Amino acid sequence: MPRIETRAVHSGMDSVTESGSHVPVIDLSTTNPLTGVESGGDSYENLATGGALQSGDSAVYQRLWQPGVARFENALSSLEGSEGTVAFATGMAALSAVLLAAVTAGTPHVVALRPLYGGTDHVLATGLLGTTVTWTDVDGIAAAIRPDTGLVILESPANPTLELTDIRSVIEAAGTVPVLVDNTFATPVLQRPLELGATLVLHSATKYLGGHGDAMGGTVSGPMEWMVRLRQMRALTGGLLHPLSAYLLHRGLRTLPVRVRAQQTTAGDIAARLVGHPALTRVLYPGLPGQDPQRLIGRQTEGAGSLIALNFAGGFDAGVRFTEACRLITHAVSLGGVDSLVQHPASLTHRPVEASARPAAGIVRLSIGLEHVEDLIEDILTALDAALGAPTAAEAVVLSA
Ligand SMILES: Cc1ncc(COP(=O)(O)O)c(C=O)c1O
Repeated sequence: MPRIETRAVHSGMDSVTESGSHVPVIDLSTTNPLTGVESGGDSYENLATGGALQSGDSAVYQRLWQPGVARFENALSSLEGSEGTVAFATGMAALSAVLLAAVTAGTPHVVALRPLYGGTDHVLATGLLGTTVTWTDVDGIAAAIRPDTGLVILESPANPTLELTDIRSVIEAAGTVPVLVDNTFATPVLQRPLELGATLVLHSATKYLGGHGDAMGGTVSGPMEWMVRLRQMRALTGGLLHPLSAYLLHRGLRTLPVRVRAQQTTAGDIAARLVGHPALTRVLYPGLPGQDPQRLIGRQTEGAGSLIALNFAGGFDAGVRFTEACRLITHAVSLGGVDSLVQHPASLTHRPVEASARPAAGIVRLSIGLEHVEDLIEDILTALDAALGAPTAAEAVVLSA
């Protein structure tokens, strides 16, 4: 089998080459001509119950099947090593479909390992979709599982503290209960949970998969039996991915390995150079000495990724001063794009999380992009001065005048 770099460039492109194009054509049709009354009805029934488009059949209606979305799904399946992928409008739409599938199967109880993305935590904690939740850690999974448990959910690296969890241990403890790994932070370039035995892999494709901050999407990859259920859920509840976003996400996959590895190299360099800075009590990055006690890097994941969390000695106020003093790095939610972003999780992405489980107020999260490392370091060091209460360069000029 070709290596992941080659698959990233070529997967999902077969039908494009066959049609005589070099890049996919963006088909915006909301409806498709039918081949006949009876055959059209048969196609409708097949697709609305989660079946795949059969050769020669009509795709019927965009909510049921879309060729560009299918191409993106095939490409991601090739990277994750899955039987299939179902793509949705956002990561939260993807998660919602999985949760609704668990509820309708009569197994609404979820065992979840914190920390998770704030939106995931929120939807589970509120039980908005009819699920119930038990929060636990790896050691508590076996005891938390009940006859109505439909899923075990985790992220590794976790959001926003970047702790690594031993996915194999989770799978072992879960027994026959399907394990869903949110692989948004690691991407299939660094980590492929299905190869470790997970049942489902979820992405906010909005992040690294797209990589340019211009398309939202969510995906679930896994065995065909789940894909059929999720395609039916998508067809009936309507959280479909737009064809233009599918095009952009598919294009993003083609550069995913080079982006992820380059961003990781820069992040590793930055994290190492920030250790011991007087503004910080801790630099949270799994690639730093002592931060991967189970030695999962190399065994479970190829690397530590390109997110860094900084814990400020001056707590919330220092974190705010730092965040607002960044210039090259944009103060904005999201992550995984070509440009670096900074955000304060306790105020933003993790605001809905109950206080006892919320990230510390002094934690700020950086998503490192593709800028030159020295330009990023310069921006970060200047902002760290601001966090310490030192005058900024502009203020220093005024003070010395
Ligand atoms: C780890 C993780 N999972 C899921 C989501 C939700 O994805 P989306 O914003 O595409 O709905 C996010 C969003 O930030 C995330 O960071």
